[in-house]
Amino acid sequence: MKKLLFILTLAVVAAFSACGPSTGSGTAAAGTEANATEDNKNETIMSTTMQDLLTRRSVRSYTDSIPPREVIEEICKAGTYAPTGMNRQAPIIVAVTNREVRDRLSKLNAAVFGPDNDSDPFYGAPVVLVVLADTTAAFTWKEDGSLVMGNLLNAAHAKGLGSCWIHRAKEVFETEEGKAILTDLGIDANKYVGIGNCILGYVKGDYPEARPRKENYVYWIE
Ligand SMILES: Cc1cc2nc3c(=O)[nH]c(=O)nc-3n(C[C@H](O)[C@H](O)[C@H](O)COP(=O)(O)O)c2cc1C
Repeated sequence: MKKLLFILTLAVVAAFSACGPSTGSGTAAAGTEANATEDNKNETIMSTTMQDLLTRRSVRSYTDSIPPREVIEEICKAGTYAPTGMNRQAPIIVAVTNREVRDRLSKLNAAVFGPDNDSDPFYGAPVVLVVLADTTAAFTWKEDGSLVMGNLLNAAHAKGLGSCWIHRAKEVFETEEGKAILTDLGIDANKYVGIGNCILGYVKGDYPEARPRKENYVYWIE
């Protein structure tokens, strides 16, 4: 709700700025005004991006509802636009909305803690975007995959969904069952290593607060 109000405020400010007094007429002035409008638009987008980056939190409680496929596709698209070493695009995303496969992945993930673990490491989230990376495509495969994960988490937040990085994708896709899931999709299970699971869904309950940042996070050399 707060986010929505913030975006609306920015939109209103941008609209008013765009309608401000004209500084002249003719082609040159029109060009200036057009640029100013473009600048305002960019500023609005930038502010919204900053706001999203600062307000994204790991969500650990979800409703059962699966978000529309178009929204999940957009989030995946944001993932595919992450930077990658030498643009080799080593990562891939396996988007799981199928309940049976989602539950199997959850069980395999829980089993990494021990055979008797029957928790749901996906916290009830109905969608899992698994990021894996081709270890033969670029030596930056792990960094590339992590950036894809970051884009997915932030894009999910920007689309109004909850998300969280759930680890142990590496171990899960080292199991025979995990490898079989990849093989069924035509993915070479020997080349790809799991980076992380981005769980997605509608937030159930309160949205988490950010914990304070540690001191000395940033060092300056000016
Ligand atoms: C590499 C990595 C692995 C993570 N693995 C898990 C996980 O397995 N389960 C979980 O609940 N959260 C996991 N998280 C989420 C972190 O716990 C979370 O980002 C951190 O507590 C900060 O909270 P925030 O994301 O709300 O800022 C992981 C985060 C990262 C970056």
